[in-house]
Amino acid sequence: MKIVLAPMEGVVDHLMRDMLTKVGGFDLCITEFVRVVEQLLPPRTFHRLCPELHHGAKTPSGVPVRVQLLGQHPQWLAENAVRAVELGSPGIDLNFGCPAKTVNKSKGGAVLLKEPETLYQIIKAVRDAVPAEQAVSAKIRLGFDDKSLALENADAITQAGASLLTIHARTKVDGYKPPAYWPWIKKIKQTTDIPIIANGEIWSAQDAALCQEQSGCDDIMLGRGALALPNLANTIKHGHQGMTWEEVKALLVSYSGYEIYSDKGRYYPNRIKQWFNYLKRQYPEAEEMFISLRTLKDPQAIVELLSS
Ligand SMILES: Cc1cc2nc3c(=O)[nH]c(=O)nc-3n(C[C@H](O)[C@H](O)[C@H](O)COP(=O)(O)O)c2cc1C
Repeated sequence: MKIVLAPMEGVVDHLMRDMLTKVGGFDLCITEFVRVVEQLLPPRTFHRLCPELHHGAKTPSGVPVRVQLLGQHPQWLAENAVRAVELGSPGIDLNFGCPAKTVNKSKGGAVLLKEPETLYQIIKAVRDAVPAEQAVSAKIRLGFDDKSLALENADAITQAGASLLTIHARTKVDGYKPPAYWPWIKKIKQTTDIPIIANGEIWSAQDAALCQEQSGCDDIMLGRGALALPNLANTIKHGHQGMTWEEVKALLVSYSGYEIYSDKGRYYPNRIKQWFNYLKRQYPEAEEMFISLRTLKDPQAIVELLSS
């Protein structure tokens, strides 16, 4: 089985990818989305969201990182896809799942699930533009308001020549509310022959097994679950025990080392608090520590608390 680390805007940046892929179990990472409006973006935009492009598009532990694009214009998406691939991205991922509202007159994300024809045009344009050996993957939800176009959308994506499809098994309107409708992935899988990756609401090895059974997919993508339990991928793939709280704290301290001294140091207190929100789900100790952490603004004070 393959396990992909989910794109998570504002949460899974290159530092988080570095750390989680060091912990292990991941085969591929997808970047936060690059928003494409009506221009060819400069290389620095791609490098900002995917600094790994400077290092063969791999995390320091060697896991490939693929750039994700979000937008609505087939030609501009195609031109930017070519640029990302020329900069080293192993293929391109297209985001049709983001629930965010229209920005800068630009649609993109889940709203396009209402328009199978647009999905087709986008994927076809990108597929035609990037070299054939480069993967063009798409990431969708089951629909926007409901699931009535799920099969039509998957068909449009297949006909347009996508190499891979990741399905977050909820509609846009479902948001992040459990459950994820894994059996719907199987329904879609039965109508297409492109490889499918199942995504949504996998928090444990048991969830992963149930998702594989209900979706009929071997391959999965992990998002929030990997932040709640940093070695979730290894618990699924290799039957490892979940990390202890002491191990997680050591990881948090090492993350702090990266974050504080990186160019994003000023974001560090918020990032770490955000991460705690996920850890609280798995570790009661995180809930307790968050009470003291919540009011801290000084990175050094945070590291001292984490080291206590
Ligand atoms: C904070 C946050 C940011 C996200 N950003 C992206 C994104 O940039 N691109 C994307 O395709 N999906 C994005 N997603 C969706 C996730 O990739 C994933 O599909 C979703 O969280 C369901 O998987 P999970 O239950 O394993 O978290 C985001 C989700 C969250 C919670």
